Amino acid sequence: MNILVIGSGGREHAFAWKIAQSPRVTRVFVAPGNAGTAWETGVINIVLTQIDRLIEFAQRENIAMTLVGPEAPLAAGIVDAFQKAGLRIYGPTQAAAQLESSKDFAKRFMQRHGIPTADAQTFTELAAARAYIEKHGAPVVVKADGLAAGKGVVVAQSEAEALAAVETMLKDNALGKAGSRVLIEEFLEGEEVSFIVMADGEHVLPLATSQDHKRLYDHDEGPNTGGMGAYSPAPIITPQLHAYVMRKIITPTIQGMAEDGIRFSGFLYAGLMIDKNNQPKTLEFNCRMGDPETQPIMMRLKTDFVDLLEHGINGTLDQIESEWDRRYALGVVLAAGGYPQKPHTGVRILGLNQVASQGINVNEDCALKIFHAGTTEENDEIIVSGGRVLCVTALGDSIKIAQKAAYGAAETICFEGRQMRRDIGNRGVSGANKKP
Ligand code: AMP
Ligand code: GLY
Repeated sequence: MNILVIGSGGREHAFAWKIAQSPRVTRVFVAPGNAGTAWETGVINIVLTQIDRLIEFAQRENIAMTLVGPEAPLAAGIVDAFQKAGLRIYGPTQAAAQLESSKDFAKRFMQRHGIPTADAQTFTELAAARAYIEKHGAPVVVKADGLAAGKGVVVAQSEAEALAAVETMLKDNALGKAGSRVLIEEFLEGEEVSFIVMADGEHVLPLATSQDHKRLYDHDEGPNTGGMGAYSPAPIITPQLHAYVMRKIITPTIQGMAEDGIRFSGFLYAGLMIDKNNQPKTLEFNCRMGDPETQPIMMRLKTDFVDLLEHGINGTLDQIESEWDRRYALGVVLAAGGYPQKPHTGVRILGLNQVASQGINVNEDCALKIFHAGTTEENDEIIVSGGRVLCVTALGDSIKIAQKAAYGAAETICFEGRQMRRDIGNRGVSGANKKP
């Protein structure tokens, strides 16, 4: 069968790579993909992004199923449109994707269904928002309601910072419609984890646990990014905590959506804050897989991914189990200079072939894999074309071994302005993000 993957990041490269390994698959198309997906055996990039053109393509090429990577097409209703055209696609409908596309929707949903989350209030008027901040003080978190490409959340350490944030969103309209409604949320302390499951409207199949590293610099300093590295499994999620999260957060979410008449089918990613008493609260929902979490998760997945997707689409996730490599997988993101504000693109990437010729690159049971994100090929050279450029991902018997392998390879890849955190996975090693 032929499969279509929508997106162009490291997540989509990992999807395509994994799907291409399935004995059931003839070809994987990625729209639009990147230089990494173009290189992959059995994978073909197609230069299409518009939903109606993608539908035409899927019909013409006899696509058996489509998998959507990023949130924007989901929020735009790609699943509804494909389903209407009689095509099989895995992901939430536009209505269900509101769990991610509207933080106000998600918050009201969680409050209504008793799902643990930070207290928050929603504002559209600047004066009321200001008064609330002045009354409650800092630290406090200001969140734009809509999708804002990672720029919608301000964790304000001072009252002045919080006031400035609501002003840019509500008065200056800096985020447009996404910021015309803001949530002011209680600041939570603790450790963040990514809890990702597959859902089919009724049943839930949890994926391996993982932890992302959102800040740009080591020791969780600097601006928030899309994610500078991730590893799986996350030791902080003990079996007890896992069961608790399933019982108190994930199951009530899938059941609650069904009760509200909006069945949720697709990947559900709960961003959790675990406090010092091991109590989780939901910071956010994403209605898709995480990037870069997908890269280490796909490295560990032993079950045929196509079988999982098929059960997801058919509503039979209760009839399949997932099997995982018992090793740790750890991915280090190499980001462009200037990322996240203004990535410097257009520079050449060197050293990719070197990694390959050392024999540590790709094969089916590889210990190391370089997933591409913001890359394109021009005149036989690989060029930086986006903020997050590569994710060097390795498997190892311990987090330390995986770290050593991933960093060993990452070090040999260079491009002008390259940014890379040096402490991906340290939390899992030490139980805390200790400075060396
Ligand atoms: P979000 O998009 O809602 O996940 O927010 C982006 C990042 O901001 C999260 O990954 C957290 O690091 C941080 N954050 C969000 N909400 C809170 C909160 N209530 N307390 C502390 N940090 C938060
Ligand atoms: N890694 C964070 C995200 O995918 O939202």
